[in-house]
Amino acid sequence: MNSAKVSLKPEISSGFDLEKIRADFPILKLKIDGKPLVYLDNAASSQMPQQVIDRLVRYQTTQHANINRAVHYLSEVATMEYHNARCKLQQFINAREDREVIFTSGTTDSINLVMHGYGRKFIKAGDEIILTTLEHHSNIVPWQMLANEKDAKIRVVPINDKGELEVDEYEKLFNERTKFVGLIHVSNALGTINPIKRMIDFAHQHGVPVLIDGAQAAPHMNIDVQALDCDFYAFSAHKLCGPTGVGILFGKAALLESMQPFKGGGDMIASVTFEETLYNTIPHKFEAGTPPIAAAIGFGAAIDYLTTIGIARIAAYESSLLNYATECLNNIPGVKIIGTAAEKTAVISFTIDGIHPHDIGTILNQDGIAVRTGHHCAQPVMQRFNVPATSRASFAFYNKETEVDALAAGIKNVQKVFL
Ligand SMILES: Cc1ncc(COP(=O)(O)O)c(C=O)c1O
Repeated sequence: MNSAKVSLKPEISSGFDLEKIRADFPILKLKIDGKPLVYLDNAASSQMPQQVIDRLVRYQTTQHANINRAVHYLSEVATMEYHNARCKLQQFINAREDREVIFTSGTTDSINLVMHGYGRKFIKAGDEIILTTLEHHSNIVPWQMLANEKDAKIRVVPINDKGELEVDEYEKLFNERTKFVGLIHVSNALGTINPIKRMIDFAHQHGVPVLIDGAQAAPHMNIDVQALDCDFYAFSAHKLCGPTGVGILFGKAALLESMQPFKGGGDMIASVTFEETLYNTIPHKFEAGTPPIAAAIGFGAAIDYLTTIGIARIAAYESSLLNYATECLNNIPGVKIIGTAAEKTAVISFTIDGIHPHDIGTILNQDGIAVRTGHHCAQPVMQRFNVPATSRASFAFYNKETEVDALAAGIKNVQKVFL
């Protein structure tokens, strides 16, 4: 067995002050049963830096009121800060206009918005919706509900043994009945980065709009919705060092304007009588009721934090962590990495011969190591690889080489306990 240590490339670790970054995250100082926390469950939810926590406290202690309603000082401040947060998100994804950014409660909510707002209005009996084997359940189940309601059909793009989409097969699925494509940018279960630009362009040649589930991409790579030319793009704050309960849906203005509202209530209206309601303009048409004001402002602070570090630098550092971790795990007999795509984010799904993933997670937890075990809300991926579940280590830019070493040592310990 090759136990030689492969150090992270110096040019990547230099200029990336890891210890300073780690010091921003109070939770990373935690001990679990006396062992330092090794947090490798970032694909499920990332941790929050002090800067974002401070922003939330400042909002709650000096700026909180309901928005878009009153003329008093606090309401005006809160309305402005909420709007600023929208503009930060607009810049982050390079949307053309701020009204193309809708605050939702997260990726799941964003996808459901598109299903109700676009799908229920425009998809008809006999139409076809293309999804991929890699989708998270949140980009499967809403479309299944729609297909059942409308008598439409779902077509699925297969993946190869490395966990890469078979793009040629995708292209073959198109016909005159194809009316919508839902596409995951980065697989949460395997880390595969999909060639979405090529796939969007192909769909557009057939006049078909594309929704991108960017939950696992936005934290790890620069997103430019104009360059991608996607019609919809969704992600959640809590995977980008922000709060839970908020996310965004980007939608092209013309499409959003053509859609029906998803939820009815306050703020999404221009006028209401018992005979008729006229809807507000976008984005308000899709933000019924009091939105997650504090969380959206915290989301804006998280975007500031990440862009100060630089998403490109985050991506380069995480890629070197991925290479190191892949090498370490490949060197342990009995460990099999599921998902070996050429283009991956720092996610490693693995199995260990003869040991159930749940047991792996439990023993690793005793060493303070947090990994996710289960089907990762991507059961079709598990079915494709013929496994009920995997263990998944998912890295963020605040993880370090020694935490990869801890994972490798933890896995060997699991083998000692069970084999
Ligand atoms: C690829 C992907 N899509 C959608 C979701 C759902 O995100 P949320 O639970 O924040 O709505 C997740 C969460 O794990 C995800 O990884």
